[in-house]
Amino acid sequence: GITRHYKFEIKLQNVTRLCHTKTIITVNGKFPGPRIIAREGDRVLVKVVNHVPNNISIHWHGIRQLRSGWADGPAYITQCPIQTGQSYVYNFTIIGQRGTLLWHAHISWLRATVYGPIIILPKHNTSYPFPKPHKEVPIIFGEWWNADTEAVISQALQTGAGPNVSDAYTINGLPGPLYNCSANETFKLKVKPRKRYMLRVINAALNDDLFFSIANHSLTVVDADGVYVKPFNADVILITPGQTSNVLLNTMPSAPNSSFLMLARPYFTGQGTFDNSTVAGVLEYEQPSKSNKTLSTIRPTLPQINDTSYAANFSRRFRSLANAQFPANVPQTVEKRFFFTVGLGSSPCPKNQTCQGPNGTEFAASVNNISFALPTKALLQAHFFGQSNGVYTNDFPSTPLMPYNYTGTPPNNTMVTNATKVVVLPFNTSVELVLQDTSILGAESHPLHLHGFNHFVVGQGFGNFDPNKDPSNFNLVDPVERNTVAVPSGGWVAIRFLADNPGVWFMHCHFDVHLSWGLRMAWVVMDGKLPNQKLPPPPSDLPKC
Ligand code: C2O
Repeated sequence: GITRHYKFEIKLQNVTRLCHTKTIITVNGKFPGPRIIAREGDRVLVKVVNHVPNNISIHWHGIRQLRSGWADGPAYITQCPIQTGQSYVYNFTIIGQRGTLLWHAHISWLRATVYGPIIILPKHNTSYPFPKPHKEVPIIFGEWWNADTEAVISQALQTGAGPNVSDAYTINGLPGPLYNCSANETFKLKVKPRKRYMLRVINAALNDDLFFSIANHSLTVVDADGVYVKPFNADVILITPGQTSNVLLNTMPSAPNSSFLMLARPYFTGQGTFDNSTVAGVLEYEQPSKSNKTLSTIRPTLPQINDTSYAANFSRRFRSLANAQFPANVPQTVEKRFFFTVGLGSSPCPKNQTCQGPNGTEFAASVNNISFALPTKALLQAHFFGQSNGVYTNDFPSTPLMPYNYTGTPPNNTMVTNATKVVVLPFNTSVELVLQDTSILGAESHPLHLHGFNHFVVGQGFGNFDPNKDPSNFNLVDPVERNTVAVPSGGWVAIRFLADNPGVWFMHCHFDVHLSWGLRMAWVVMDGKLPNQKLPPPPSDLPKC
């Protein structure tokens, strides 16, 4: 591979959407941010220079960071933030991955405006395991708030209430014609008839799963989270925040003077308010003549907002290729088993404060009833230099502190414990993890993202996971391999991964509101014995707290 150099200048920029102009934090003044393009095997160096008042850090979401954990990016997990006026060079090599991923800010809610695509091309002289597309186009979903998003989340955390919801969803930064004062901010994809396009679909929205469809066109899903899958057709795809998917679009043999709407709108099963608006873009056939175009109003049909069976059936269709060229290295035996509940709850209202959460508490979210408190020093340094004292403890519980009927009536006590606890894994441990959704404040689908690894989704189901029955149905042959999995609303998902990457790896809900409320934890993976199984020391420019 070669070395690719990028420079990310973090700077303020005025941007207007929905007739509101606000100053946002951007990379190089762009919204969404610039593309990172590399080939499998390349080394990528990104120099991030912070010119804004806020602290920042950037995460390369889905990049495995094999023995380069110092470049992973989540603030206070693998690094201290890059402070105003400082810079840091993220330095990593893309090993054994190709497809689409994303990068985004990983501190507070800055990823609302600081995000962009990572495009990983296959090695030279290797082709896609599907027919070559005529063109490749990123489709990156986001959310737009007219208000300042840092104010939105800090107000929510101070009042213990739910944050204000966004004003629009966006495709490549544009809300589209279904919003007021937005017709000029519409994403248009110009296509030729009888061609194959590959859409590199990314959900960078903060808090919502999205259904996506294009009128009168079927999509063929060919990969998920940067891993090829057995191709399948779907009129509607569902994508959670943090997930990426390459889909093929075959254009019609001829479609003169035609445009078709593409729509995305949330899938939502929780309680409370959410942004239930719809972003539209236009698929426009290039005109053979110069005749005036009329915008077609042909709209695709999307499932109901809360169509959990569509969601579950769709996610079951993903299968690894599992062939000689692209094997599925599913751990066939398990050394450590974990059962984690993921869900919402509440914590006591701090003194001298009125909280607007349930029964006067403040909203919280937890894994095994632990609401993970971000430390003030980075976990990875603390681990590497043997200074965990006062930063974190090794006793993250492997089963819930408060067992109950997770999908039945919620218990009276919904309280969580605030703590910074991790699980320590010896190098190369094969792990099975069952993630169980809880009903404490309403069943909700949670997109769980694991840093540093891809994991195999070996099983999923509704209700409570049954350790005596459910494992016999696990797929250990061709389960999908991904970095972000949706824990089904009112159900569970089982994943397996091999802890072959030494470092400290964050795992959290990719809804930023749940992340902020504490639905997060970290794994510490120890060095192995061989030199190539050890995490090298930190780079000299690693930011200090
Ligand atoms: Cu895309 Cu820890 O996040």
